[in-house]
Amino acid sequence: MPFSPPASVLIIGSGVFGLSTAEALSRRPSFANTTITVVDRGSGSGEGDENDFPARDAASIDSSRIIRADYADPAYATLADEAQAFWRGTVKPADRRSDDDYIGGGGRYTESGLVVVADASDIQNADGGSGKSKKTGMYYVRESWANVQALAVQDPSLSQKLHELPDAEAIRAVVGTGGTTGDWGYLNAASGWADAAASMAWVLRRVQATGRVRFVRSKVTLLEANDAGAVTVRLDNGQTLTADLTIVATGAWTESLVAADLGEKRSLNGTLSATGQVVAYVPLASDDEHARVAGMPVVLNLSTGLFVIPPAKNSRELKVARHAYGYINPIKEAGPSTPYTHLDDPKLAIPEEGADDLRRALRQMVPLPGLADRPFARTRICWYTDTPTGDFVVDYHPDLKGLFVATGGSGHAFKFLPVIGDKVVDCIEGQRPKAFAEKWAWRTATTDAEGTPGRTTVVTEDGSRGDRPGRLLWDELAKKEVA
Ligand SMILES: *[C@@H]1O[C@H](CO)[C@@H](O)[C@H](O)[C@H]1NC(C)=O
Ligand SMILES: *[C@@H]1O[C@H](CO)[C@@H](O)[C@H](O)[C@H]1NC(C)=O
Ligand SMILES: *[C@@H]1O[C@H](CO)[C@@H](O)[C@H](O)[C@H]1NC(C)=O
Repeated sequence: MPFSPPASVLIIGSGVFGLSTAEALSRRPSFANTTITVVDRGSGSGEGDENDFPARDAASIDSSRIIRADYADPAYATLADEAQAFWRGTVKPADRRSDDDYIGGGGRYTESGLVVVADASDIQNADGGSGKSKKTGMYYVRESWANVQALAVQDPSLSQKLHELPDAEAIRAVVGTGGTTGDWGYLNAASGWADAAASMAWVLRRVQATGRVRFVRSKVTLLEANDAGAVTVRLDNGQTLTADLTIVATGAWTESLVAADLGEKRSLNGTLSATGQVVAYVPLASDDEHARVAGMPVVLNLSTGLFVIPPAKNSRELKVARHAYGYINPIKEAGPSTPYTHLDDPKLAIPEEGADDLRRALRQMVPLPGLADRPFARTRICWYTDTPTGDFVVDYHPDLKGLFVATGGSGHAFKFLPVIGDKVVDCIEGQRPKAFAEKWAWRTATTDAEGTPGRTTVVTEDGSRGDRPGRLLWDELAKKEVA
């Protein structure tokens, strides 16, 4: 059946998936007569604040996010390579979205280089002793190395930027802080990081400038299936919103929203899960210390998921974080996991277990006197939307044709901000990119080895995660928080 554009589209959520989808819809000729509305709960900064999209505890609002084509999966490596041309401002003139600026301009993108490493012993533990095959950090780094080399065949300038790092000393030489981590890996000098919050603000301004998108600040409390095969969206102010097509792009809030409201059969239960990840910002003590870390690459240890991102030119903070299985926060026993953030509790800090791990990374990666033991300037729990394979979910609901889901970022979607909206709209039009035909499809609840369906089976096994699955946020917080 040929695609006929809906008269109205409602997007719930204005993070990476929601905002980029609104932007792509406003550019797409086939949607020229479609009304586009975006609803987001905001941060409580007041009705008049037109910049409060998305809410400040969205995963996309942060000082920095890694921008890399370094992927174990070639489909994402290729898509990230496409996105990177936008970050660098090197897309063909015909594909430019703006004549005088680009998303990575104005210091929003820094090509610092990225060192990815893993530990050789990791490969021996490939099945974790459990007999089940499990992808490891070393698997991820090896596949990623092969994929970026394949990209370099098409782009010879990239090949000069790839350097294998065969041992701890080679890693130390490129990290440049005196520290080293892992036993094997490589440097991709063509990767880097973006100022996430500033990049989101840039996209928001562009969307607002089109005049095509109505922004509504309200908290969505319920989705109800309606007679039109779509959903009626209930807001906390008692009002409702409806559209021919509703796109749920609520990131880590998706599990609780869709699971609770549409009933178990129609829910995403078992398909995705909110997981909290530890992030901390280390204050830099002096100009000298700033100079020591300002030129360092991003360093990512895929055996543990620990990584460090260098400071921006005008910032005095180093970011350290852990890409791990994360903390879950079930609303009730076996119920969906839901984010708990600094907007829920301004005093929220990370559990001691996570803080200790971050300090371990600092000791190895940035061993400057006193730095690893210094009190953090701030900490944060960043909420991922994890899927079992780390693939996104970009698809129509199986039995509600007026409901579409675009989420499942699994902690790696931010870099796709310049391109993901167009891919979502392609999927809406029934033109899902071939490489993602299976990967982005709606999946019904998975079952674990014992055959019980349920959300506890949602553990991302793409080889990139550190620590262990199943830590409960409140158990860890009860042990001790670290300010
Ligand atoms: C939009 O509406 C105008 C005026 O009715 C019509 O000429 C045009 O073909 C429509 N465009 C699309 C993409 O439906
Ligand atoms: C990097 O990974 C290896 C392998 O697990 C581990 O021994 C090392 O301590 C890790 N370092 C950091 C900082 O994560
Ligand atoms: C999710 O699935 C599990 C296991 O079947 C069940 O116990 C739980 O109640 C479900 N949660 C929701 C919100 O449907």
